[in-house]
Amino acid sequence: MDLKIENLSVKFKDFTAVNNLNLHVKSGELISFLGPSGCGKSTTIFTISGIHKPCNGSIYFNDNIINDLVPEKRNIGMVFQNYSLYPHMNIFDNIAFPLKLKKQNKKDIKNTVINMAKLVKIEELLKRKPSQLSGGQQQRVAIARALVKKPQILLLDEPLSNLDARLRVEMREEIRRLQKDLKITTIFVTHDQEEALSISDRIVILKDGILQQYDLSNKLYSNPKNLFVAKFIGNPPINILDCHIDKQNNIFNILGTNLKLSNFIDLSKISNNITNCKVGIRPEDFLINDSNGVFNGKIVDTENIGKDSIFKININNFIVKVVVPYDSINKNLATLLIGVKPKKILFFNPSTEETINFEQ
Ligand SMILES: Nc1ncnc2c1ncn2[C@@H]1O[C@H](COP(=O)(O)OP(=O)(O)O)[C@@H](O)[C@H]1O
Ligand SMILES: [Mg+2]
Repeated sequence: MDLKIENLSVKFKDFTAVNNLNLHVKSGELISFLGPSGCGKSTTIFTISGIHKPCNGSIYFNDNIINDLVPEKRNIGMVFQNYSLYPHMNIFDNIAFPLKLKKQNKKDIKNTVINMAKLVKIEELLKRKPSQLSGGQQQRVAIARALVKKPQILLLDEPLSNLDARLRVEMREEIRRLQKDLKITTIFVTHDQEEALSISDRIVILKDGILQQYDLSNKLYSNPKNLFVAKFIGNPPINILDCHIDKQNNIFNILGTNLKLSNFIDLSKISNNITNCKVGIRPEDFLINDSNGVFNGKIVDTENIGKDSIFKININNFIVKVVVPYDSINKNLATLLIGVKPKKILFFNPSTEETINFEQ
């Protein structure tokens, strides 16, 4: 099912939790809502499910406005971080609950529950109570219960946050598999960028109830619309530096060094009144021991993260983080000649924090 959100705002008294949101989730797509705590992720999905009422805007399921439809009639499956299973019921009855509400006959219920339990790989646990299950197993039950009524939309609110790291990876692969098999339109809420990047077709970045960017994960990474998105995506985070622009002489002063970037940058795109901007350089976009290097750096600290190393490097008293393949740099070198991939440098308007698009 196709989901469209138009000019949606949600208020709690005079506080705006969701501010003029526009969004189109195509049928069968899995998108993530990604953003810091309090940015309006849960409020948005609660509004889609009908728990909260919008103060403005419309929600469409397949081109039909559903603003006034009661939650029970929206046919939405929801899964929460804390599983919300019924503790006194066994697993079978937990999964069967939405079907019993619909007054389906017993035989159909049994078949559906058993099939769903097989799908989420918990068929041997149906007689147990929730307290006799691990966190991962309980989460599978919650997913089965959400899917059993064949919802048109699946809304998952930080469903994996309570699981340990290994299980989180396993479960997100399972969720993706199920979602693809069932072709169910899904919104997955998370504050974890790695989770969002790994699971989603597209990602919505939210801040203070306002959509910052809705894009493919690689676009968020390489073409962030603003400084917030650039800083939010990427680990270790992007290096943000001050840059002085001398337009007349075509000089960009970054990290205390003058760079000529005229081959890469159309200077006419910078408005005349901008003489300073913010520059973003991702840790993997520096070139170490580069014969064309322009910066002299000293290693301050090293951290190994499996196949890569993170170096903290002092360049003219600025500290930047650089990622290189493990053991590709001799850590004992006193100074390193460092270059930067000029096409990868991102520029931001210092007051609006929007990305300046320099493409020639
Ligand atoms: N029922 C409510 N009453 C008042 N304020 C709320 C309520 N629910 C959420 N908020 C506020 O709205 C903002 C967005 O909350 P929420 O959508 O839960 O954020 P997220 O899920 O992104 O962490 C927060 O500042 C939160 O305090
Ligand atoms: Mg939330």
